[in-house]
Amino acid sequence: MKALILSGGKGTRLRPLTYTGAKQLVPVANKPILWYGIESIVAAGITDIGIIISPETGEEIQQLTGNGDRFGAKITYILQDQPLGLAHAVKIAQPFLEDSPFIMYLGDNLIQDNLSPFLTKFKQQHLDALILLRTVSNPTAFGVAKVDEKGRVLQLLEKPKHPPSNLALVGVYFFSNSIHKAIASIQPSARGELEITDAIQELIDSQKTVESVQLQGWWLDTGKKDDLLEANRIILDTNLQISVGGEIDEKSQIIGRVNVNKGSKIINSTVRGPVIIGENCHIENSFIGPYTSVGDGVTLIDADIEHSVLLKDAKILEIHQRIVDSLIGRRAKVEIAPQRPKALRFMVGDDSQIELV
Ligand code: TTP
Repeated sequence: MKALILSGGKGTRLRPLTYTGAKQLVPVANKPILWYGIESIVAAGITDIGIIISPETGEEIQQLTGNGDRFGAKITYILQDQPLGLAHAVKIAQPFLEDSPFIMYLGDNLIQDNLSPFLTKFKQQHLDALILLRTVSNPTAFGVAKVDEKGRVLQLLEKPKHPPSNLALVGVYFFSNSIHKAIASIQPSARGELEITDAIQELIDSQKTVESVQLQGWWLDTGKKDDLLEANRIILDTNLQISVGGEIDEKSQIIGRVNVNKGSKIINSTVRGPVIIGENCHIENSFIGPYTSVGDGVTLIDADIEHSVLLKDAKILEIHQRIVDSLIGRRAKVEIAPQRPKALRFMVGDDSQIELV
C-alpha cells in the first residue's frame, strides 16, 4: 500500500497568502497542514508516500518537509506542471504508484478519524474504491454521493444544483490499481480538469466495487480561511501540550493551556489559552486570547488578539481594539497610531481583505 498526497493546485481561495507560499504549508497550531496528513498516513502504517507538487510552491514544500525521515517515511516528490485536476495528478503519479493500491489524500484536508479502520475495510473487502463521506448543510458546494443503504456508491455528482443527498466527498480516498484504467477513459470537465469524481463514476459504471463510509469526526478543508481558523481552534483544543519556555516577566499572566517556545519574551501581557507562541517572539503590553497561534519571530506590542493565526515574523503594533478571526501572513505589519487615527494608510497586496467592523 502506498499513499499519494496532492499538494499542488492553485490555492485561489487562500489568496493573497498563496501568491507567495503553498497553502498546504500554512500552519495550524504552528505546524504545516500537510504534516498532519503525513502523520496520519504513517500512523496507519503506510510509509511509501508520493507528494504531488507544483512548479510554483514545490521547492518550498520539499525544503521544509524533506525526504520523510522526520516522519519515519520515504517521500517521493512528483511534479505536476499544471493543476489539471485531481485525476490528472493520479495519472502523472502512475510511475510512482505502479500497480499498488493507494490512499489519495488532499494536502489541505484534515480529518479527525483515524485512517486504520477504513484501510482495513478497503483491504478485507478487496474494494476498487472506498470513499469517505460527511454530511454537510450546503451540498451544492461539494462533490456529492448517492449511496444505497449498505453504503455502496451509486452515483457521484460534482457541485450539483439538485443534490441527491447531503453527503459530501471528503478529500481522502482509497483506490486499487483499477483507477488508472478509469482515468484513462475520462475526458476533462467543463472547467478543464480531469475530475476524480468522473473517474470514480467510471468505476461504478463498469461494475467495480465502490463503497463509502461516513466520517464520525470532524473534517476541514483548510483551503478556505474560516475552515483554517476552525482547524486551528480544534487542534489547539485537543492536541496542545502545556509548556512554558522563553522569558515571562512578573507582570505577565499565563492562564490555561499555553505553549511558549524558546527565545520568546512576554512582558506585561496576559495570555489566555489555548494558545501557542512560537520561538523568538516579542509580546509586550498585549492580550492574547483563546484559539490563537503565534508563529516564530512575531512581534505584538499594545495588541489584543484572539481566535487568529499569525504567521512567521508578523507584527501587530498599537492596535487598541480587539483583533478577532484573522489570518495574518508572513512579515505582514498591522499598526494604528496611538490616538484615534485621522487617516488610514495602507499598502495591501492583491486579494487582501481589511474589515474595520
Ligand atoms: P483544491 O483545493 O480543490 O484546488 P486548488 O488548490 O486549485 O484551490 P482553489 O480551489 O482555492 O483554487 O485542491 C485540493 C488539493 O489538491 C490541494 O491540496 C491542491 C491539490 N491539487 C493538486 O495537487 N493538483 C491539481 O491539479 C489540483 C486541482 C489540486
